[in-house]
Amino acid sequence: MKDLFGKALLDYQNGNYTEDIITSTSISDDDVLPLPYLFRDFDAMPKIEQTALELSRGKVLDVGCGAGSHSLYLQEQGLEVKAIDISERAISVAKERGVKQVEVLSVLDETDTFDTILLLMNGTGIFQEISQVSKYLKRLKNLLKPSGQIFIDSTDIKYMYEDDDGGIWVDTNAGYYGELDYYVSYKGESEIPMKWLYLDFETLAMACETLGLQCDMVQSGEHYDYLARITKTP
Ligand SMILES: C[S@@+](CC[C@H](N)C(=O)[O-])C[C@H]1O[C@@H](n2cnc3c(N)ncnc32)[C@H](O)[C@@H]1O
Repeated sequence: MKDLFGKALLDYQNGNYTEDIITSTSISDDDVLPLPYLFRDFDAMPKIEQTALELSRGKVLDVGCGAGSHSLYLQEQGLEVKAIDISERAISVAKERGVKQVEVLSVLDETDTFDTILLLMNGTGIFQEISQVSKYLKRLKNLLKPSGQIFIDSTDIKYMYEDDDGGIWVDTNAGYYGELDYYVSYKGESEIPMKWLYLDFETLAMACETLGLQCDMVQSGEHYDYLARITKTP
């Protein structure tokens, strides 16, 4: 991985903001991801992220923290927060911005336990593929204190397969429709393509149920997105 995402965060943090990140997927054209958005404060966050932060309590793990915006807010509210990311550059940015506990770490390698675990900005993307959902959920379950909670957001992207007449055309032989190839480019460089998973709420809830996890819809967003709360089934 070239870590162009981390490179862009670092450029922004160091005052070298000249370009935004360009993303595209196997089913959509180029889209601009404005770098300032990754440094958003509470007021600039979508409602579902604000809700996740307002319901956070105890010792918190911010998974895939990026520039650390969610961690910073919770820290300011007096919560103990650990922020992890597989991007070394993202972690150095989060640290520079003031996140006290940071580590370059995949969630699969985390071993501590937490009262609240956050996976925000399409948190299911980190699972990459439908076949890996159970593996990640099992790991997350092991990181939960007995009455701990996970907040994860995603989008049901079925609407992206809608034709002009409003019909939905999903090729049922092609695997799960939310499993996309994700392309990132920045300042003329292209990242190695990666897998990125958008998971609809029902599929997430079913996967949770088979693992002894309770999955509740906390809030639906403005565009097929939602916030889910996952807890251990009593
Ligand atoms: C879409 S960004 C979200 C950043 C941040 N949460 C935000 O809302 O601004 C996803 C982040 O997850 C990180 N990531 C991907 N896989 C991960 C894993 N297995 N463990 C921890 N972080 C991961 C990426 O490096 C990236 O910084």
